[in-house]
Amino acid sequence: MEVIIRPDADAAAELVARLIVKELSANPHLVLGLATGRTMESVFSKLVRIHRETKLDFSLCSTFNLDEYVGLAPDDPRSYRHYMNERLFRQVNVDPRNTHLPNGQASDLDAECRNYEAAIAKFGGIDLQLLGIGQAGHIGFNEPLSALRSRTRVKALTPTTIKQNAPFFGSEDRVPRRAMTMGVGTILDARRCLLLATGSEKAYIIAKAVEGPITAMISATALQLHPRCTVVVDDAAAGQLQGAEYYRWIFENEPEWSEFRAAGA
Ligand code: F6R
Repeated sequence: MEVIIRPDADAAAELVARLIVKELSANPHLVLGLATGRTMESVFSKLVRIHRETKLDFSLCSTFNLDEYVGLAPDDPRSYRHYMNERLFRQVNVDPRNTHLPNGQASDLDAECRNYEAAIAKFGGIDLQLLGIGQAGHIGFNEPLSALRSRTRVKALTPTTIKQNAPFFGSEDRVPRRAMTMGVGTILDARRCLLLATGSEKAYIIAKAVEGPITAMISATALQLHPRCTVVVDDAAAGQLQGAEYYRWIFENEPEWSEFRAAGA
């Protein structure tokens, strides 16, 4: 795992956007795993800006989102399909047929989850998986006690997650109780993982995820097992990291990061 610390949320999102651009430019057929949530909004608006400014080409890439709420129709403004259409898919030249999210209204949810896994495999697996982190440490909707080898399935959301996502629904009692999510094992199969966390409210869980022991209670800790995982945080989210000084030194001195040092600076 490598940890990159940027001065603020905007610079952190800029770095993540540039990492995605680099991967997509190197491989136009990139299979991109996507996350939603507040943190990603800024990454998507930067990708849209870069697409407009540089003609960054999404036409050959395909996408798989981590998760979707059970029961929400794709055109429901609170669904993740709607979020993705509005914030990214309709604003760049990705082929809509190559964008994938689990169908929250599938009549057979277990079959939908199995089909989602099969679709990822058919596309050759995920090259780059973008991740956020919930305040209780979930990646996707892999709530505490998610098996570290779990695959796409239905999960019941914890009270912490329901509270965290309530602003999108108006109140806690309107948040769906269940979601379909890629499993921790599905995420670990991605060839590269890229997690973005910003803000002081993520500082505690980032320290646990990066420096704490691996535990199914905090699914993000499983990323420590991944051979190529980059965690990008801002100063606020890095506030409780023991090794912050070392991580800053790596970013400032290692040649592989030289082209990114100016990102958002
Ligand atoms: C969303 C997802 C979640 C979020 C996480 C952080 O698709 O997979 O794991 O990334 O809950 O959400 P924000 O960015 O809203 O704090």
